[in-house]
Amino acid sequence: MNLYQSKTFQVLCLKRVQLISCCLALLLVNSAAVPAARVVDTARIAAAESEPGNWLTHGGTYNEQRYSRLQQVNNGNVNQLGLAWSFELDTSRGQEGTPLVVDGVMYVTTAWSKVVALDAGTGRRLWAYDPKVPGATGIRACCDVVNRGAAFYAGKVYVGTLDGRLIALNARTGHKVWSVMTVDPTKPYTITGAPRAAKGKIYIGNGGAEYGVRGYVSAYDAETGALSWRFYTVPGQPGVLDGAASDEIFANLANPTWHGNTYWQYGGGGTVWDSIVYDPELDQLYIGTGNGSPWNHKIRSAGEGDNLFLASIVALNPDTGKYLWHYQETPGESWDFSATQQITLAKLPVDGVDKQVILHAPKNGFFYVIDRHTGRPLSAEKFSDVNWATKIDLTTGRPVEAPNARFVTQAFFSSSGASGAHNWFPMAYDPEARLVFIPAQRIPFLYVNDEKFVFRPEQWNLGVDMMGTRLPTTPEGRAAMRNALEGWLLAWDPVAQREVWRVPYDRPWNGGVLATAGKLVFQGTATAKFRAYDSSNGTLRWEYAAPSAMLGGAIAYSIKGQEYIAIMAGNGGGLPLTLPAFDGPQPRTFGQVLAFKLGGTAKLPPAPTIGPTPAPPNSTWSEAVIERGRANYAAHCASCHGMETLSAGVLPDLRRSALLSSDRAWRAVVLEGALTTRGMVGFSSRMDADNVESIRAYVVTEALRAQNLAKPTTPAD
Ligand code: HEC
Repeated sequence: MNLYQSKTFQVLCLKRVQLISCCLALLLVNSAAVPAARVVDTARIAAAESEPGNWLTHGGTYNEQRYSRLQQVNNGNVNQLGLAWSFELDTSRGQEGTPLVVDGVMYVTTAWSKVVALDAGTGRRLWAYDPKVPGATGIRACCDVVNRGAAFYAGKVYVGTLDGRLIALNARTGHKVWSVMTVDPTKPYTITGAPRAAKGKIYIGNGGAEYGVRGYVSAYDAETGALSWRFYTVPGQPGVLDGAASDEIFANLANPTWHGNTYWQYGGGGTVWDSIVYDPELDQLYIGTGNGSPWNHKIRSAGEGDNLFLASIVALNPDTGKYLWHYQETPGESWDFSATQQITLAKLPVDGVDKQVILHAPKNGFFYVIDRHTGRPLSAEKFSDVNWATKIDLTTGRPVEAPNARFVTQAFFSSSGASGAHNWFPMAYDPEARLVFIPAQRIPFLYVNDEKFVFRPEQWNLGVDMMGTRLPTTPEGRAAMRNALEGWLLAWDPVAQREVWRVPYDRPWNGGVLATAGKLVFQGTATAKFRAYDSSNGTLRWEYAAPSAMLGGAIAYSIKGQEYIAIMAGNGGGLPLTLPAFDGPQPRTFGQVLAFKLGGTAKLPPAPTIGPTPAPPNSTWSEAVIERGRANYAAHCASCHGMETLSAGVLPDLRRSALLSSDRAWRAVVLEGALTTRGMVGFSSRMDADNVESIRAYVVTEALRAQNLAKPTTPAD
């Protein structure tokens, strides 16, 4: 049977199946240890290339090329790279951050939006800040309680918190200077992206489209936290003005591209959850906007219209938020093809003339080179598997869609799908070699129109039917599923728009990339290997076995002439929460910050091992109850504890939970929310005690099955 038609592969519907001191320094070890430094302002960040010893802003420089000009560590000596120091974090949840380094101090943001300042030469903690995000916020986060980084500006460190706050901290002490709520807290908004700083302003977006929110980006005064402007990316209720920078362009251009009545009731989406880039050459701000809410265009907008500004890059005036231009990559977005992925600025020869361009590799699988002056696409080619469209017509800038890609009359098996041919994992651009390095992947997805769609507050609202999807039951089926998931590091020539080399991985969800003038490309993998490749041909030059998968991008910096390469380890994010652990139960490993230097000899603390599994209780439930439990688990639990109870180790493997033996203890946690502060809410608003018990029945059944599988087989078996 054709792979693409196989029922087995329905299960590849895996983006995600559904889905310490009161605002002061947690621990102030020695505030004087952070030296007073030359001020970091727009001019200094704009000239960041001239001080490669620092990593002043999320993407390294305003260009967000993630290219370090340091070359002490290089292609010839990288095999001598060793651990300089490590710093253990406080959780097994996903770590997606890119650290900043400013004058010898490293600032990292961690799961649950915490901030830690470390001596970048030794890893010694200088201060830590915990914004105390309420545990219940966890269930509003589609893709783990991650945070991708901080901004540094004029003596302050800025972080967006999962529950929607933007907080300014004194960079020297870690004390809070101000905090503003950037969202309506009654709505399921979350912040996971890094703020950006320029021109005395802090720019911040938000996420939550799957849950039904309306996207926007805001600018706050860096000193006071006062709101300067806001730009909405999708329309609100017809006839109601926001009094925002976006009002005018919506009235003139965007509103008529929306139809029906559901979009504004269900949020519309378009959330700016990752990339926001300031262009100091043209004095423009670029934002990448997200997918629609609900995903399904037919439900969201009666199947009509482009739905501006979903899945677009929008250029704004950084002072006023006024619209300058936009380019919509996926008109009438219907596949969760967000355009939030990293926006990189570069100068490239186009038809022999140097042009100021944006390089973009969004989820939809096309690599775009876009004119920064006009927003016009100059070229666009597939960098990965793409079957939803055959090409981009450069005269109109629009994709030529494949028949039935919109799954209106029939299901559509998309490869890659909603997880993206490239997701948020940062790419890097080497301007010397003129190559882009992309963490590419293939994660197929079956789109089925949800005939019975009803909006459910605080839950995923996709308009895509994902129920009835089951893992293959045979070992062969599971192996086939696993084989269909792939990742690779792709070196791409953005001028010729073609692949130069690739390094294949047998798993998707590999981490971000750093390129260096040492002719190296660094990447952490889904299988916990931190690697350096020769940037000219992809030859593996160095490898380090890390405690867990690495998701975010590595950085390079130097202190007193000593170069360091640093990265955060910590598996998590959307896919690993849901994706079944193919290799059996996984230990829950805490995240780490790892820093390397030539000749480094530091050792990691021993890795956690997985203890014996508590014996599950006997099963006395009927088949019908167990089946009901299976469905309840798939609908409410798989998104965090793993498909069919096969947790990948980010959150507890419920088959191994001691709570399985007690209906009361199980109820206390699952129904009444005894572990809410740890991110496990009670489900009393969604199900009754009977259904909670049915899940216990199902998990016990799976635990017994696993126990039997683990027993050595005898001839009698
Ligand atoms: C939004 C993510 C999320 C969802 C959805 C979720 N959980 Fe949890 N669950 C957690 C977190 C976080 C913890 C606590 C982990 C820790 O202690 O570090 C947890 C812990 C638990 C525990 C305690 C395990 C132990 O032995 O320590 C049980 C039992 C549990 N969950 C059951 C469920 C059930 C049943 C469902 C579905 C009805 C569910 N969870 C849905 C996030 C989730």
